[in-house]
Amino acid sequence: MDEPKLTADLLKADWRVVKAKRLLREALAEHSENLTRRDPSPELEADYAAALEQFAQLRGNPLYFPFLGSGVGRGSLVELADGSVKYDMISGIGVHVCGHSMPELVDVLTDAVIADTVMQGNLQQNRESLEVSERLVALARQQGAPLDHCFLTSSGAMANENALKILFQYRPGSHRILAFDNAFAGRSLVLSQITDRPQYRAGLPATIPVDFVPFFDPDHAEVSQHDAVAALHMYLSRYPGAHCGFMMELVQGEGGYRTAPHSFFAALCQELRQAGVPIYFDEIQTFGRTLAPFAYQMLELDQYADIVTVGKMTQVCATLFGNAMNPKPGLLSQTFTASTTALIAAKFILHKLEHGGFYGPDGRNAQIHRRFCIRFEKLHRQHPELIRGPWGVGGMVAFTALDGSPTVSKRVLTELFSAGVIAFAAGSDPTRIRFLPSLLAVTDDEIDSVCDILEQTLLRLHEE
Ligand SMILES: Cc1ncc(COP(=O)(O)O)c(C=O)c1O
Repeated sequence: MDEPKLTADLLKADWRVVKAKRLLREALAEHSENLTRRDPSPELEADYAAALEQFAQLRGNPLYFPFLGSGVGRGSLVELADGSVKYDMISGIGVHVCGHSMPELVDVLTDAVIADTVMQGNLQQNRESLEVSERLVALARQQGAPLDHCFLTSSGAMANENALKILFQYRPGSHRILAFDNAFAGRSLVLSQITDRPQYRAGLPATIPVDFVPFFDPDHAEVSQHDAVAALHMYLSRYPGAHCGFMMELVQGEGGYRTAPHSFFAALCQELRQAGVPIYFDEIQTFGRTLAPFAYQMLELDQYADIVTVGKMTQVCATLFGNAMNPKPGLLSQTFTASTTALIAAKFILHKLEHGGFYGPDGRNAQIHRRFCIRFEKLHRQHPELIRGPWGVGGMVAFTALDGSPTVSKRVLTELFSAGVIAFAAGSDPTRIRFLPSLLAVTDDEIDSVCDILEQTLLRLHEE
């Protein structure tokens, strides 16, 4: 007997839908295939400036960059509404891993256009929500991490909020948290306390006490490891039983793309294990970008992964946790987990990451990193005053430009933007410039063109 067919599957397979997808693909290819980097069109400039001004008025503050996308691009290239086409080396701070207007992605996203709902959430989960949760748990466990559950949500901040609720419920009586110096956790009231930037919590009430542990210093490896363990020890003995967990970014994102070897994290994790304090990896920026799907896998810290959050390139964010921490019903829920579009994209991206040769010492992420680094290092040898670094790992690339001061770095970013490369700052002392390229799209030629523009921009600024 034939399998009963769902109407939804019959609809997706309908020849008109299949044909519509082909027509969309063709139209997209025709309109985007000749996009190359270009300057703004003079005739669009006045309207563009007015639109930016109106947006600034409405938001209450101007945008960081004068960026209003037109809605089309090709690979790493993105068209703005002023007619310019730029290399997007920041991808919405790590979100657009497929780059812009990827035909294969547009193809699968057409299924979201004909799906019954725009959003999915607590009372409205479609099959994609299940499939994404299943893939994330399977990926998270592939080297043995004890993670059994996945709770989807709409933003990195919400994934971290959910993780904190799970942790506090799991550790009754705890009311503090441990984090690293220069941590970034997100923008909610609680997370702004864990984020180690006073200006991000200016005027906000203190919510949760945070004990900051110094991060690894590669110039003083042994001393910094000793200092970190000593600080942790001090906090654990000063506030016994008071910590819900230690939130760690294994590659600090906003903190400047600093990371540490296995031994540094393992020393802290062993202390935490002995004290019974859960270990919490915030992988919202690192997920997918290092030399393994999760940075804790690259660093072989799987056994310590008690709770993990992901976001950005996954399109839908998530909190992963083990059986022991399963929260009581009622603790976590929400109207929206994500849009159907985001969930279908998440499924597509997870599949590509798993099967696209991105990981390992010679995977695509490592190759992308090396291609940038070779150019940065060459430029440094010729002009040591222009560039220092590189820092980061895999698809997280950072360098310090000129004197690395916040003002000069902002100027470099502005000049790069005008010259056709979108990048962003990381860290504050010194300020580093980071690239989070679209890993599924960026080509070696694009990396070379970006490096050419970077070199010309730095040389010009240095000569001023
Ligand atoms: C490490 C880390 N945690 C949390 C967040 C917050 O994520 P979202 O901006 O999606 O709320 C970010 C965002 O930059 C991040 O880099």
